[in-house]
Amino acid sequence: MVYSRILGTGSYLPANVVTNAMLAERVETSDEWIVSRTGIHARHIAADDQKTSDLALYAAREAIADAGLAPEDIDLIIVATTTPDMVFPSTACLLQEKLGVHGCPAFDVQAVCAGFMYALVTANNYIKAGMAKKALVVGAEIISRILDWDDRRTCVLFGDGAGAVVLGASDEPGIEHACMAADGRYNKILNTPAQISGGKIQGLPFLNMDGPAVFKFAVKALSEIATTTLAQAGVAQEQVDWLVPHQANLRIIESTAKHLGLPMSRVVVTLPTHGNTSAASIPLALDHAVRDGRIRRGQRVLLEGIGGGFAWGAVLLTF
Ligand code: ACO
Repeated sequence: MVYSRILGTGSYLPANVVTNAMLAERVETSDEWIVSRTGIHARHIAADDQKTSDLALYAAREAIADAGLAPEDIDLIIVATTTPDMVFPSTACLLQEKLGVHGCPAFDVQAVCAGFMYALVTANNYIKAGMAKKALVVGAEIISRILDWDDRRTCVLFGDGAGAVVLGASDEPGIEHACMAADGRYNKILNTPAQISGGKIQGLPFLNMDGPAVFKFAVKALSEIATTTLAQAGVAQEQVDWLVPHQANLRIIESTAKHLGLPMSRVVVTLPTHGNTSAASIPLALDHAVRDGRIRRGQRVLLEGIGGGFAWGAVLLTF
């Protein structure tokens, strides 16, 4: 039986840090409001000349080196992003070129904040089907480019960044089980409706959100799918060493942990300094916890997250 496991992790955050106090100079908000409602203190914002593929490149190089590999060993590239460099080619193809490799399949996955898990599950199935042996899976976003910086309801929530893993074929289980879901009926409560048509941008080019509706749906959907994933895998919550959730809102994270019966000491939280980095948030959090020594080889990790679509899921793995 062929399995896949994570061979290496990497991440990248742009140098520019924007604090809540800095945002309060631009829109009517306060550090107190943002921290109490979301748990966010600061976020990293990409420089004007940076592209999503640039952020992806830093994270990818780190993950490939951590796996003890070279870029030419990679035989599949999947990038999860909502903020691609351009309409096409895919950011994965642009990343492939920047890595200096050619020929292996490369494509993007668009499932917003759930994108990394969709990409991971796709790479896992490529490996299990014998179609790849060393897959690079990246979540990368410059979500700041689709924010209305005069809209206090949304601009305080997000940040830019990238996270990556190399997934490799293995005799022992790494990725154990996953549950993925989507429900397009909820497309109106979180979207960026713009499209290019007739040489113009048609529709609102900014992220648009009904915060309370998203909050309510996210809490319910994440608790349900995380519980189902553990039940289907036959794994009890005591056997989960770490929960690595999508970093959208501390209250959503706490509520899912509570529902699962996991203490916050077993939950990886990077939200205070990263904000919500959409598809990058889970691999960024994973990499940080691996590098600071919290997540160790052989430990069981549950990833979970939700994003626009709605699309959501949970992935159980042994690191
Ligand atoms: N600063 C100060 N006041 C604000 C701000 C702000 N940044 N933003 C909104 N407010 C005001 C509102 O205008 C409103 O004022 P009003 O009562 O005078 O109209 C008041 O605060 C309350 O607004 P609500 O939207 O009801 O505030 P809520 O407590 O629901 O918190 C929040 C808003 C933080 C967005 C919350 O609903 C939330 O986190 N929802 C989930 C959204 C999310 O995580 N989205 C990320 C993308 S999807 C994902 O990744 C899961």
